[in-house]
Amino acid sequence: MTTYPMQTQITFAPLATLETEALVIVLFDGETQPSASLVALDGALGGTLATLTTTKEFSGKLFDTQLLFHPAGIAARRLLLIGGGKLEKFGLPELRRLAGAAARHLKGRNVRSFTLVLPPAVAAEAAVRVALVGVYGANFEPGRYKSEAKEERRIEAVTLAFAAGPASLTPGLEAALAFGNAAGAAQNFARDLINEPSNILTPTCLAERAQAMARETGLECELIDEARARELKMGAFLSVGRGSSEPPVMIVLRYWGAGRASGAPLLGLVGKGITFDTGGISIKPSDGMEKMKYDMAGGATMLATMKAIAELKLRLNVLAIVPASENMPGGRAQKPGDVQIAMSGKSIEVLNTDAEGRLVLADGLHYARLLGATHLIDAATLTGAVAVALGSVNVGVFANNDAFYEQFARAQQAAGEKMWRLPLDDEYLEQIRGSVGDIVNTGGRYGGAITAAMFLHEFVGDTPWIHLDIAGTGWLDDGKPWTAKGPTAVALPTLLGLVADMANHQ
Ligand code: BES
Ligand code: MN
Ligand code: ZN
Repeated sequence: MTTYPMQTQITFAPLATLETEALVIVLFDGETQPSASLVALDGALGGTLATLTTTKEFSGKLFDTQLLFHPAGIAARRLLLIGGGKLEKFGLPELRRLAGAAARHLKGRNVRSFTLVLPPAVAAEAAVRVALVGVYGANFEPGRYKSEAKEERRIEAVTLAFAAGPASLTPGLEAALAFGNAAGAAQNFARDLINEPSNILTPTCLAERAQAMARETGLECELIDEARARELKMGAFLSVGRGSSEPPVMIVLRYWGAGRASGAPLLGLVGKGITFDTGGISIKPSDGMEKMKYDMAGGATMLATMKAIAELKLRLNVLAIVPASENMPGGRAQKPGDVQIAMSGKSIEVLNTDAEGRLVLADGLHYARLLGATHLIDAATLTGAVAVALGSVNVGVFANNDAFYEQFARAQQAAGEKMWRLPLDDEYLEQIRGSVGDIVNTGGRYGGAITAAMFLHEFVGDTPWIHLDIAGTGWLDDGKPWTAKGPTAVALPTLLGLVADMANHQ
């Protein structure tokens, strides 16, 4: 495993004087002159930028690139122009991707370090955070089991410069640098876990990886095995693992950034940890089933978030719970119609064994409350329905508390991630009301992402809670200019930003 370490720094030197393997600058679509902030650089270049833009040889379309080797007049060995698209549409999501696209372009040419000039269109501190996450993201490659290892190409060092903006290192910029490093590395840690095949990354193996990470970062780690889970009456959690020979395990991590004194808020992060989802007796079609190794993406993302929280020493108490299990159709597997008693005491009629995520999360969320969580966030590859609703562009967000949601949404915007809130109305409860037990575990075809969220809601009560359905966004089927295909670790930058924000405001 690697977290793709990288040297990072910020410079305030004039752009023309920067000695770097590649100087990367952003030009926007429709600009016929380099922006005011790049005029000095273009002066040193003898007007090359103005020529390229007025002649439209370089269009500035988003992610368009042009590499100039040994440009005369400046100290950099290469100048990489990258298109920022329309200036009005340029924001943090675009900057993150653009930073990744520049890194992948250069990495492909075996360039290992570069300087990225942050455009003034985005605020400096947010730009630093987001750009670093983008560059780290570009380093991730999924092919770690190839027998003939490819020559490893990766960006080893990145320097951030400003086209216009701060003139010296402020505490805010330093914090942004630390944040970007921690978030970027943690994101790749999660992606490596998510990408592991399920024969290697069993629930036991996931727990061992969590334990090893906890040891390195100084987190408390407790593993609740099957026997202990039975004592704790985690009937919903245990029902899913019955059909598998791999024992389930509930992973619990604790971090005391604000001290153990009672009264401080305690954030509970709960992540779905299904290491493989066959559907169980309600078995899935075989086409594409191999992707279901990513059904622990929410769990991996929560583990990685904890890693970054500990590294940044954020002053908030945080707890992570990952119910890890394999959903298999073995001889002892639960069957449609079975009734399970959740840890909370609610009875659940399992109409479809493929709706297993909500079962393990029901006990995970309830246990987080028992451990004293005052705020809850869960992340889960929960429903195909969320991908029908929002595609692979936006994470589906649900919240039972508007104030907590607003705070979350600010962190999401600052992280440059795309998410969309969906409703929780009591009317949807009708779809999951049980006849044999209290509730059923599927609400039918209509509003599938919402009825799944309503099911989880039954286990969080009034505790301020946010549910992230990442089934559509947790995995990329195709590579993009800014990142490889496969696991995304979506939501990690947002979660880390929210924790930093909560730590500063308690
Ligand atoms: N892990 C799946 C959801 C999923 C589907 C994730 C596609 C990623 C891509 C989840 O456990 C599941 O099977 N959900 C069912 C629920 C249904 C049976 C109510 C679904 O979405 O079909
Ligand atoms: Mn399933
Ligand atoms: Zn699943």
